[in-house]
Amino acid sequence: MISVRQQENLENIIRLSNVSLAYSADSANVLENIDLSLNKKEFVCVLGPSGCGKSTLLKIIAGFIFPSQGTAQFGTKAIAGPDWQRGVVFQQPPLYPWLNVAENIRFGLKMRHFSKKQSEDLITDYLEKVGLLAFRNHKPYELSGGMKQRVAIARTLINNPLVLLMDEPFGALDALTREQMQAMLRKIWLELNNTILFITHDVDEALSLGTRVLVMAKGPGRIIREYKTSFTYSAAQENTESIYHCDDFLHMRGEILHLIRSAV
Ligand SMILES: Nc1ncnc2c1ncn2[C@@H]1O[C@H](COP(=O)(O)OP(=O)(O)OP(=O)(O)O)[C@@H](O)[C@H]1O
Ligand SMILES: [Mg+2]
Repeated sequence: MISVRQQENLENIIRLSNVSLAYSADSANVLENIDLSLNKKEFVCVLGPSGCGKSTLLKIIAGFIFPSQGTAQFGTKAIAGPDWQRGVVFQQPPLYPWLNVAENIRFGLKMRHFSKKQSEDLITDYLEKVGLLAFRNHKPYELSGGMKQRVAIARTLINNPLVLLMDEPFGALDALTREQMQAMLRKIWLELNNTILFITHDVDEALSLGTRVLVMAKGPGRIIREYKTSFTYSAAQENTESIYHCDDFLHMRGEILHLIRSAV
C-alpha cells in the first residue's frame, strides 16, 4: 500500500532543493536556500519586493539558467534546459508582427504530427478559450495589450504544458482588463488543471488567483512565508468583489503587505 507521503511525492512536478544562485562567480547570491515543490494542479503565486529574485526563480524552473548550488528537478529529472512541458508567458508577449493571430498560435504548436484540419480545430478551440475567435485573422498591431497577451497565453497553452510559468503577465494592463484576464486565467486553470507558477506585484491578484501564495524577501532572495488559499474558488463561483471584502482575505492581505514592507 502506498503511504500518504509517497502519494504527495507522486504529485510533485517541480522540486527545487536547497537552490542558491549567483549570476557570476564573484557576485553575491541572488537566491539562497530555496526549497520549493510545485504539485500537480496547484496555482502558486509569488510575491516579493522588486529585485528579490522572483524572475530568477522562474528562469531556473523554465531551464533558462541553472542553480549555482542545489538541484532543480522536473518530475524525476534534473532541469537541463527549456521544455515545452514548461510553458512560459512574459509581461511583454513576443508575437511575430508579420503573422496573424491564428498563425502566431500555430507557430507555438509543438505537436507537428497533427493534420492541418486537426491543428486548425485546436487553434479554434484555444482562440475560443481566450475569447479571440473573431480576431483570428488580425495582425498583432491591430490588437490591444490584453488581446496580445491572450494570444501569447493561447500559444503556450495549445501544447497543454504540465506547468505554466507566468512572469507578471498582466502587469502592463489597465485595472479592468487585468480583472478580465484574471477571470479568464482562473477559468482556464479550473478547466485544464495545469500547474501554474504566477509572479505578480499585486497582493490582491495573488490572493484572488492562487491556491498557495509565497512571499519572498531580498538580500539574498528567499521564501519567508507561504499561505494556503482558496479565494480563487469563491471568485470563480461568485465574483471577485465578494472576496475582497471578506475578513479572511483582508487579514491575509494586511499581513502580506506588512511582510513585504518589512522585507525591503
Ligand atoms: N542576467 C543577470 N545578470 C546579473 N544580475 C542579474 C541578472 N538578472 C537579474 N539580476 C539581478 O538579480 C537580482 C534579482 O533579479 P530578478 O529579476 O530575479 O528580480 P525580481 O524579483 O524579478 O524583480 P522585479 O520585481 O523588479 O521584476 C537583481 O538584483 C538583479 O539586478
Ligand atoms: Mg521580475
